[in-house]
Amino acid sequence: MKRIIGAVLVAASFVFAGSGLARADAPIVIKFSHVVADGTPKGRGALKFKELVEKALPGRVTVEVYPNSQLYKDKEEIEALQLGAVQMLAPSMSKFGPLGVREFEALDLPFILKDDAGFKAVTEGEVGKTLFTKLEAKGIKGLAYWDNGFEDMFANKPLLTPDDFKGLKMRIQSSKVLDAQMRALGAIPQVMAFAEVYQSLQTGVVDGTEGTPSNFYTQKYADVQKYLMVSNHNHLSYAVIVNKAFWEGLPADVRAALDKAIAESTSYVNGIAKSENEAAMEKIRANGKTQIIELTPGQKAQWIKAVAPVYTDMAARVGQDTIDAVTKATGFVLPK
Ligand code: LMR
Repeated sequence: MKRIIGAVLVAASFVFAGSGLARADAPIVIKFSHVVADGTPKGRGALKFKELVEKALPGRVTVEVYPNSQLYKDKEEIEALQLGAVQMLAPSMSKFGPLGVREFEALDLPFILKDDAGFKAVTEGEVGKTLFTKLEAKGIKGLAYWDNGFEDMFANKPLLTPDDFKGLKMRIQSSKVLDAQMRALGAIPQVMAFAEVYQSLQTGVVDGTEGTPSNFYTQKYADVQKYLMVSNHNHLSYAVIVNKAFWEGLPADVRAALDKAIAESTSYVNGIAKSENEAAMEKIRANGKTQIIELTPGQKAQWIKAVAPVYTDMAARVGQDTIDAVTKATGFVLPK
């Protein structure tokens, strides 16, 4: 936190001068920080937003995109947003627990989103709206949800049944539900910033992790992970968020144009997420360094059985009402 405050003090003059709220003639600057590569659905979405905004509001608004944790890592970027050092982020839904907004973690319950329609039903319906209202008290405003498809499991040995997870150190995002999921499978979860994952896999600090093909490919995990299990056990979704005070302080016509750009970028990202991940999977296959393993229905059934206690164990944390609202939207039936 100390480091963040230091960075914020240094950055403050830029932000203040760049926000346009101080000087009428200076362009408003939106710093959009994220942790993944430009060539991912989120990376492309951030660049699309920049393109649309700068076309709609030439000279009035500039969007600076900082990919690959260049400015901040996962936890720090949320603090930086609250402090106003950056104006916009798109963290995954699994990263809001440390902020005290635990309901987002309901979407980390394994297998709870089974298809793209489920993602749409949840994020475009009541659940999506309710989750965003929980951020307001933290000085954050939610604008949209972006898709990055389904997550698979990566390791240096085949993970076919829960027995194969025993004793493996698996990197997870900062979600207690993901922690419970890995423990239920028999692994030892380790929370780690996305920026540190490659090196930790390389040096053996962790044995494996979970993620989408687009992140696997762009982070070059093929160099350090021999197996990719197509498990689709989780879904990686992002909340596009802004600093609330910054957003509400914008001139109304600027905010309206930004809203339009967000809506268009959202259709763009959610339209490419599936094909981008399929293309990434093909590149991983073609590269030949990582063996892609399809789980049999019997093996998948064993995973589902192993993680079943997580739904009840985590109900108090994420709220049974949130779980019920998600399952109502997706049609998912909780395994007993
Ligand atoms: C992760 O930390 O694994 C992901 O949330 C990274 C991302 O933003 O896609």
